Amino acid sequence: MSTAALIARARRAARPQLTGSVVGAMGLTLTVEGVAAAVGDLVEVDPGPRGLMAEVVAVSRDRLTCMPLGELGGVHAGAPVRNTGMPLQVPVGEALLGRVLDGLGRPVDGHGPLGAGSGGGIDWVDLASETPHALSRRRVDEALPVGVRALDTLVPVGKGQRLGIFAGSGVGKSTLLAQITRGTEADVRVIGLIGERGREVKEFLEENLGPEGMARTVVVVATSDEPPLVRLKAAFVATRIAEGFRDQGRDVLLLMDSITRTAMAQREVGLSAGEPPATRGYPPSVFAMMPRLLEKAGPGATGSITGLYTVLVEGDDHNEPIADTARSILDGHVVLTRKLATTGHFPAIDVLESISRVAGAVVSPARMADAREARRLLGALRDVKELVEIGAYQAGSDPLVDRARALSPVLDAFLRQPLEDRTAPDDAWSMLHRLVTAG
Ligand SMILES: Nc1ncnc2c1ncn2[C@@H]1O[C@H](COP(=O)(O)OP(=O)(O)OP(=O)(O)O)[C@@H](O)[C@H]1O
Ligand SMILES: [Mg+2]
Repeated sequence: MSTAALIARARRAARPQLTGSVVGAMGLTLTVEGVAAAVGDLVEVDPGPRGLMAEVVAVSRDRLTCMPLGELGGVHAGAPVRNTGMPLQVPVGEALLGRVLDGLGRPVDGHGPLGAGSGGGIDWVDLASETPHALSRRRVDEALPVGVRALDTLVPVGKGQRLGIFAGSGVGKSTLLAQITRGTEADVRVIGLIGERGREVKEFLEENLGPEGMARTVVVVATSDEPPLVRLKAAFVATRIAEGFRDQGRDVLLLMDSITRTAMAQREVGLSAGEPPATRGYPPSVFAMMPRLLEKAGPGATGSITGLYTVLVEGDDHNEPIADTARSILDGHVVLTRKLATTGHFPAIDVLESISRVAGAVVSPARMADAREARRLLGALRDVKELVEIGAYQAGSDPLVDRARALSPVLDAFLRQPLEDRTAPDDAWSMLHRLVTAG
């Protein structure tokens, strides 16, 4: 543990302890009297092994308003409350690799306490962290291969980039994240599964990710049945763990599934704290939370966090407020379409609708030229698709279209990639080069 952390711990221990009590519980909030605490502190209701943790969200002269990090069931007026004197503590460090944690950073994989095994390597830090200052950040200038051909060549990810994966439900967002986790060259992967169905989490961990995906990976899970504050915290806990690795100078890939469900958790928290709904039922705090969360990823002074965030576009409406806000903050987006998914084209990436704003900075000019040519061919195919379908396209009327049609099966084979298949980036680029220079 660092000296600063030791001093902070000693200072907390020296503080007078006051025990107060619950005076009310309503909706998602608890009112407590008789405890001195600061906003952000954790208090414990009914201290003991089954104690309920709650976070102080508002203070007045003699009262605290707290939000529980667990179920409120069973809490009665008069229940004793103790201030822990510190905000939520998050584990960071090497010993987290291969582990599955809950939304508050506690292990849930049945592999024992954290750091008990190989040589410890766990530090406890405050959940809140300093976002690197804009001017201290390096630029995104190096590619981070993810092992998926369509992405590595046509929508390249840069170290420290933040990219959204936009899609309707069931189009293959989670599966693509698993494929990237297995295929990436990042040193460390941190996955936040926020608001997913419980059944899906098990399937994701065991089938999609598998043991090879779990190595060098930390997973933070808060399923849809968890209290909203826990789901919201989980996104920040996963990000804090990624920051811990970044501060060691590592290149971290942070995958968040999904930012939409994180925003929904913030909506529940905001509304129950009395905020007014603003845009389509989302209170203002949602639009304040999103940049706070997403800005934490990016390159640091050393190391980097590359963030991939899935965004659910309901009813395939890409102008929904959460999708819109995410798009404005992120440096690129990958669009998955139902049309491709229903024809069995996986990953269902609509390359023409997807862009990486850092492509020019992370890819050599020669490779960029190949990528541009591939996009030109795909664009030509899209433009005449309907004519071809009704048999109105006459071969020979446009040489580019003819060439694109001839290459269409190879293009298709290049873009389709089974979940278990990983292509090294150099191989993907030479495949693409052969493809666009053929014929
Ligand atoms: N690469 C793939 N290869 C084969 N099938 C796939 C692939 N990706 C997705 N699928 C199919 O699509 C289904 C949904 O995929 P997935 O759970 O990844 O979608 P999602 O967008 O995360 O869904 P949700 O919105 O419910 O979270 C899978 O159960 C599978 O049948
Ligand atoms: Mg999913």
